[in-house]
Amino acid sequence: MPNKQEPLLKAVGLTKEFGFGRQKTLAVAGVDIELKEGEVITIVGESGSGKTTFAKMILGLIAPTGGEIYFQGQLRDISTYKKKLEYWKNIQAIFQDPYSAYNIFHKIDSVLMDCIRMRGGGNLPHKEKVKMMTEACSFVNLKFEELTNKYPFELSGGQMQRLMIARIFLLDPKILIADEITSMIDACSRATILDMLMELRDKIGMTVIFITHDVGLAYYVSDKVYIMEKGLFVESGTPDEVILHPQETYTKRLISDVPKIYEEWDLSTV
Ligand SMILES: Nc1ncnc2c1ncn2[C@@H]1O[C@H](COP(=O)(O)OP(=O)(O)O)[C@@H](O)[C@H]1O
Ligand SMILES: [Mg+2]
Repeated sequence: MPNKQEPLLKAVGLTKEFGFGRQKTLAVAGVDIELKEGEVITIVGESGSGKTTFAKMILGLIAPTGGEIYFQGQLRDISTYKKKLEYWKNIQAIFQDPYSAYNIFHKIDSVLMDCIRMRGGGNLPHKEKVKMMTEACSFVNLKFEELTNKYPFELSGGQMQRLMIARIFLLDPKILIADEITSMIDACSRATILDMLMELRDKIGMTVIFITHDVGLAYYVSDKVYIMEKGLFVESGTPDEVILHPQETYTKRLISDVPKIYEEWDLSTV
């Protein structure tokens, strides 16, 4: 059993350098982070600051060039494909462009069926699987019966985002990384999507890493905010500390780009 005191996920001196010689880019410059179970954090930074590279290393999609990642107190080992699949049961991501996440030749029921299989439910009776898929869809206000024979590209952007949350519902990961997921949708669906994600967080107790350049989102959803500049976390703390009382010039600048954070992000009125 994992020790409750241990952070769920920990990165120490995590570094990623792309390229060689003059072409070298230090995308992530040695960052430390500790995440507790059920914690919601947001990484905020301007474009090119290293947010996605950080996320991909945590996900095990790209290899760090320095530092270590610990999961449930153990040095993460994803040296074989089998170990990677095991790790991915615990950590999942949704990205900005929901269409890119799906195989466009797979119908929606097979997309959802894959999630059940990944969680080890491949041998359940068909009726049971349909029940699980129906439940996952209704959680995000989609009707499973209307989706079964459709392909992902036949859905609207908002429906696709909701389908992604239905997938997470079935996959039941310990950690979810959401990278710029709200930047492509309108304010109304944005609030709905965030509400659904937070509800899902409460339901399955997952840890969430939001990645965004939207300071308003960070303020409203996070337990802790990390400000990323040129591959480093330059400031971190509670939303009140970091967003209402920023210390760094860079943070102050990011915040001044969003003058009306209160008005725009009153989710209670949506
Ligand atoms: N595959 C790659 N090859 C070379 N450079 C990359 C690659 N991916 C990202 N970078 C560079 O790393 C830096 C950080 O990029 P990224 O992590 O995508 O930032 P963000 O998500 O904050 O916009 C940028 O300078 C980017 O050009
Ligand atoms: Mg990015």
